[in-house]
Amino acid sequence: MAKFIAIEGLEGAGKSTAIQIIKTYLTDKVADVVYTREPGGTFLAEKIRRILITPYKEEALCAEAELLLMYASRMQHVNTLIKPALLQGKWVVSDRFNWSSLSYQGGGRDLPFEQVKQLNDLLLGEFTPDLTIYLDIPPEIGLKRARQRNTLDRIEQEELSFFERARDIFLSLTKNTSTAFLIDASQPLDKVKKDIEGVLGNCFHK
Ligand SMILES: Nc1ncnc2c1ncn2[C@@H]1O[C@H](COP(=O)(O)OP(=O)(O)O)[C@@H](O)[C@H]1O
Ligand SMILES: [Mg+2]
Repeated sequence: MAKFIAIEGLEGAGKSTAIQIIKTYLTDKVADVVYTREPGGTFLAEKIRRILITPYKEEALCAEAELLLMYASRMQHVNTLIKPALLQGKWVVSDRFNWSSLSYQGGGRDLPFEQVKQLNDLLLGEFTPDLTIYLDIPPEIGLKRARQRNTLDRIEQEELSFFERARDIFLSLTKNTSTAFLIDASQPLDKVKKDIEGVLGNCFHK
């Protein structure tokens, strides 16, 4: 059965690093895997990404527009890339998915969480990842890592409390979802790698 795997976590948690670990792990186990990301993942969704991450000095993006653009990008991604790939029997591994919106827009931005959840459910319905790997990191450690990697984008420039609120939502979503696994991303990389491989191993021993 094709699987849809989402990697979630704050800035600098190690999502991109995790994707590389997953790529290596799956290479001789699964024939067709599509690696993708959000916001973005398709031609038009990547155009929307640009609006979302660019700190335009001309005008601030309001929270509601940010939320709707996130879901515009997501639905384009789901309908034109993720679902067709799964239907063709391919696996899909996405760097971020809907939990990032529940956490960043519903938590970080302080939009009413229940309304963000309703929008999510209206658009995605029953469509959820088969497996979610949540890389948990204190925001100050994640942001320090992200800062070393490159200059911070529009959302990465938010204050610490934004990411603390987002982390709280990530943690509660993980706690309440049987298909989600928390990995302590503050550990040394070789330990994080072992933990990711342990979680992926579950996909093959069921
Ligand atoms: N467990 C780890 N310990 C120390 N540094 C890490 C760890 N995981 C990732 N990094 C480094 O932190 C930075 C951010 O990692 P990255 O995978 O780009 O995070 P994300 O994609 O979640 O923003 C990179 O420079 C990466 O090499
Ligand atoms: Mg990344």
